Amino acid sequence: MAIELKGPAADVLRARRQRLSKMMSGEPILLVGHGSLPRNFLANTHPFRQDSTFLYFLGVDQPGAAAVIGAGGHTTLYMPSPAPGDELWHGPGVPFERWVARSGVDEVCDRSSLQPASYHCLPVADPVANQEASRLSGTPLDPRNATGSEDLRAAVVSLRLCRDAGEVQAIRRALCVTSEAHRVAMESTAPGVTDTEVHALIDAVFALHGMPPSYTSIVTARGEVLHGHARNEPLRAGEMLLVDAGAEDPSGYASDVTRTWPVSGTFTARQAEVYDAVLEANAQAIACVEPGRRYREVHLAALEVLTVALRDLGLLRGSLDGLLEQGAASVFFPHGVGHLLGLDVHDMELLGDAAGYPVDRHRDPAFGLSALRLDRDLQPGMVVTIEPGIYLVPGILEDATLRAQYGDSVDWAEAECWLPFGGVRIEDDVLVTADGNEVLSASIPRTRSAVEALVGTGPSPRQRLLGGSAS
Ligand code: GLY
Ligand code: MN
Ligand code: MN
Repeated sequence: MAIELKGPAADVLRARRQRLSKMMSGEPILLVGHGSLPRNFLANTHPFRQDSTFLYFLGVDQPGAAAVIGAGGHTTLYMPSPAPGDELWHGPGVPFERWVARSGVDEVCDRSSLQPASYHCLPVADPVANQEASRLSGTPLDPRNATGSEDLRAAVVSLRLCRDAGEVQAIRRALCVTSEAHRVAMESTAPGVTDTEVHALIDAVFALHGMPPSYTSIVTARGEVLHGHARNEPLRAGEMLLVDAGAEDPSGYASDVTRTWPVSGTFTARQAEVYDAVLEANAQAIACVEPGRRYREVHLAALEVLTVALRDLGLLRGSLDGLLEQGAASVFFPHGVGHLLGLDVHDMELLGDAAGYPVDRHRDPAFGLSALRLDRDLQPGMVVTIEPGIYLVPGILEDATLRAQYGDSVDWAEAECWLPFGGVRIEDDVLVTADGNEVLSASIPRTRSAVEALVGTGPSPRQRLLGGSAS
């Protein structure tokens, strides 16, 4: 049986492991892959997704794998032998020797032969794999804390931080599909269509191209719920639909794009003003993306545009300098302007802030800035998202601590009059180049007129998916 080549070639994987080994002075490294995660009983599993670090260094996307990397990058891959009945239920397994050719490892052994030793090791998301890795390495591993080998974490982060040409190609492939899905979703949106139908259509477009979503697609008229999901509710004229959805390339690379559009095909005057402000914040933030620029400045560029706009809209009041000093726009833009993008949609977030922050920087505890996931100096090859937004969040407007903190800088009564407003977010994926940036998601409509021109111009999701009548 041939192994489909979905990721980097064996020599690329081998070179990555050699670099990793050199950075770790040849000390033994244990990488564990994910197992199959059960949904409700053991034989009923979620679709398998490999740990991203394992994918990066081994390219093996089968459950139950582990690898030991030693001096010079010498690698032993450990794969589970098929259990009785596996072939009947799951089809024939991949003969071990094929993994040697695919991953460029030096040998493949049975997983049961992997012995405990003093390995450098890092936590993964699968709790069972973590338990096993903790036992083998003698190190408690928990992804909720920065456990595991600090040296290995730093080495993995430095190797995975910037994309090579092949990785950028993979993100481009994912974005081609994401672009089609967003366009089709815009065309299919109309009053009476449900959020769930649009969600189904987006995921169907991904699936037709052999791609899963990089994360559960966010398709909601309640855009103020930042990671809210479809609720099977009919969309109504006057509402905006926020779609945050990105396909994942078969090699594992993510895309992450948000567009917001009016259900009726035309923004109201208020929605249009907010939309244009968010679009301007998106553009100003992207204009800052260049090598050497600290990402916090990119965030602050977006915050400044939003501060001016929110004051013009009557939601903030007072001097511009005072509002900027206070970060008052965070009441309506309570998250960071973006994050790293790679094999994970929030790349390497499993490793805590080690990827997003250099060792001498830490999260600012201030409201809004505390949610900034990235504050590195940008380097060519990094791919980052730029995703400013404006949201009217009832929970924030009711928060007594925030009301006291921002006091008269926010017109709280005016903000309450806006409810329910929802939210607008516009998110793009941006490659840092040698002399600036390239917006990889630029083909996805984002100006107000381009979005309005598409909404409601095509068949409904039901017609597209099921054919026949619209109902
Ligand atoms: N899709 C999750 C995010 O934008 O961060
Ligand atoms: Mn994002
Ligand atoms: Mn997103």
